[in-house]
Amino acid sequence: MTQKNVLDSFRLDGRRALVTGGARGLGRVIASALAHAGAEVAITSRTLEDATTAALEISQDSGRRVLGFEGDVTKAEAVRLLGDSVEAELGVIDILVNNAGINIRGAAVELPEDDWETVLAVNLKAPFLCVQRFVPGMCDRGWGRVINLGSILSVIGIAGRTPYAAAKGGLLNMTRVMALEWAMRGVTANAICPGPFATDMNKPLLEDPVKYKAFIDKIPMGRWAELHEIAGAAVFLASDASSFVTGSALFVDGGWTAQ
Ligand SMILES: NC(=O)c1ccc[n+]([C@@H]2O[C@H](COP(=O)([O-])OP(=O)(O)OC[C@H]3O[C@@H](n4cnc5c(N)ncnc54)[C@H](OP(=O)(O)O)[C@@H]3O)[C@@H](O)[C@H]2O)c1
Repeated sequence: MTQKNVLDSFRLDGRRALVTGGARGLGRVIASALAHAGAEVAITSRTLEDATTAALEISQDSGRRVLGFEGDVTKAEAVRLLGDSVEAELGVIDILVNNAGINIRGAAVELPEDDWETVLAVNLKAPFLCVQRFVPGMCDRGWGRVINLGSILSVIGIAGRTPYAAAKGGLLNMTRVMALEWAMRGVTANAICPGPFATDMNKPLLEDPVKYKAFIDKIPMGRWAELHEIAGAAVFLASDASSFVTGSALFVDGGWTAQ
């Protein structure tokens, strides 16, 4: 079938999206982008007030229905309940953005076991749990999008990032396996792999001029990303524009991993 106007294939009218960790940082930018592209959006935070406040602001800005939900996505029961609430209040989810993430830095031989478990739980287990809750419905309906927030650390190493790199590397390979499992069901799975964006997660780097500059030296474009620069990748992978793209990693990293 030929397309009249390619820009129409980026529209998300009639779709419903869930963005975990959508109240702040990259998740908020992604939630806003999906809403501006036409989707109705559910966002989650561990703090209900943060979720509802951000949802209201995104809704007022985009003119779309955006609802905030409380949820710790590392717990299977909480994810199941979150799914029930989202479906009751917004409807079934077509686009799942596994964005919630955490980074605890430290030398591999010194990092406490709890920190390892926390980082793996949020970055790797939570996407798995959310997929289990939301993707069966997508497969039944024959259309769906899963977007996992990987990282340049899905494919490279940086000293002091053992659990984060393990989780993000695992997340990218999990994305590939899921893409294969759903390839005949109309559901795609892809990863967005960002380079450095100035969010809360990177406070330790942003507050240290030496580390900040060291990162810039690694980026061929010679700068950190602007927050809005994640939006296009998310809308592309959430829409029909990416209908034949699955199991891919889209690097939004100013060329870091091209070297
Ligand atoms: N910023 C970057 O440079 C960068 C680079 C590569 C990849 N990424 C990835 O992009 C994603 C977003 O990062 P960001 O920079 O926007 O981080 P951020 O500003 O630190 O925000 C982290 C988000 O994760 C949520 N979250 C953390 N633990 C959670 C849990 N147990 N249950 C539910 N939500 C939880 C937080 O929600 P609440 O605090 O509201 O509960 C918050 O919305 C992450 O997956 C991150 O690894 C970021």
